[in-house]
Amino acid sequence: MRALKVLGIESTAHTFGVGIATSSGDILVNVNHTYVPRHGGIKPTEAAEHHSRVAPKVLSEALQKAGISVEEVDAVAVALGPGMGPCLRVGATLARYLALKFGKPLVPVNHAIAHLEISRLTTGLEDPVFVYVAGGNTMVTTFNEGRYRVFGETLDIPLGNCLDTFAREVGLGFPGVPRVEELALKGREYIPLPYTVKGQDVSYSGLLTHALSLYRSGRARLEDVCYSLVETAYSMLVEVAERALAHTGKSQLVLTGGVARSRILLEKLRRMVEDRGGVLGVVPPEYAGDNGAMIAYTGALAFSHGVRVPVEESRIQPYWRVDEVVIPWRSR
Ligand code: FE2
Repeated sequence: MRALKVLGIESTAHTFGVGIATSSGDILVNVNHTYVPRHGGIKPTEAAEHHSRVAPKVLSEALQKAGISVEEVDAVAVALGPGMGPCLRVGATLARYLALKFGKPLVPVNHAIAHLEISRLTTGLEDPVFVYVAGGNTMVTTFNEGRYRVFGETLDIPLGNCLDTFAREVGLGFPGVPRVEELALKGREYIPLPYTVKGQDVSYSGLLTHALSLYRSGRARLEDVCYSLVETAYSMLVEVAERALAHTGKSQLVLTGGVARSRILLEKLRRMVEDRGGVLGVVPPEYAGDNGAMIAYTGALAFSHGVRVPVEESRIQPYWRVDEVVIPWRSR
């Protein structure tokens, strides 16, 4: 069968991206533009305004770099969720417009599943357990009987959000994770903080509150609070990931999502996986954070197995879970 070529649009959170990829795994182009808030965290309406502003430029740059026109792609894919409503609407509107104007099928893509599929493609690991951590998501998931099943997730705030909020509140700015980690590496003393793993799920809101009040009390150096915070937060995730490996009998693990750029979390996971005789896959930074190529590639996989949605029935799904999506392109 001829490899299908799909244009994919990402706009779920802070990044607006356009990629073009084929169902056989060739990434033809990946152009992304990320909104950075002037102060505080991401404001959905401001991020959406950013996306509307950069969309024409990102789209034309992607087409130009790939050297093709919209007429030449087989379908248009778009991340319809999960994500922030105003942001999702920008990508969905552009995708619907392109589908109608050029008479192309529209392919709905779940953003989280796109992270998983681009991870499999870029690491070459076929059936890993995924640790997916980002500003808006924290979960441990793996494929089983037709779907990606959730083997653990945050009960409250995501890990990236926990670290970003801490960084902002103590004046380290955005993005928080690299700045908190930089200071954590200078920490000397571990101060016990709430380590909350319930069954297979984790909770980060109590940890954030305690870390902030510890810092504000003046009883600890910021470096030691950062060190204790990341040690506690990451260890919780490593514990859940290890149990998922043990339970499923799988030996491959992949860290992905925006926080996958974290060197400290990666090393912790690497030690755990190597102790078990397994393999850790590292997703290249260009594909670990939000990007258009992952939507294009996952759209191409889905479209080659008949997935599409009529434009008039397409709607954004801000709370779309990975385990709601049937995965016809994987047989095991
Ligand atoms: Fe993401």
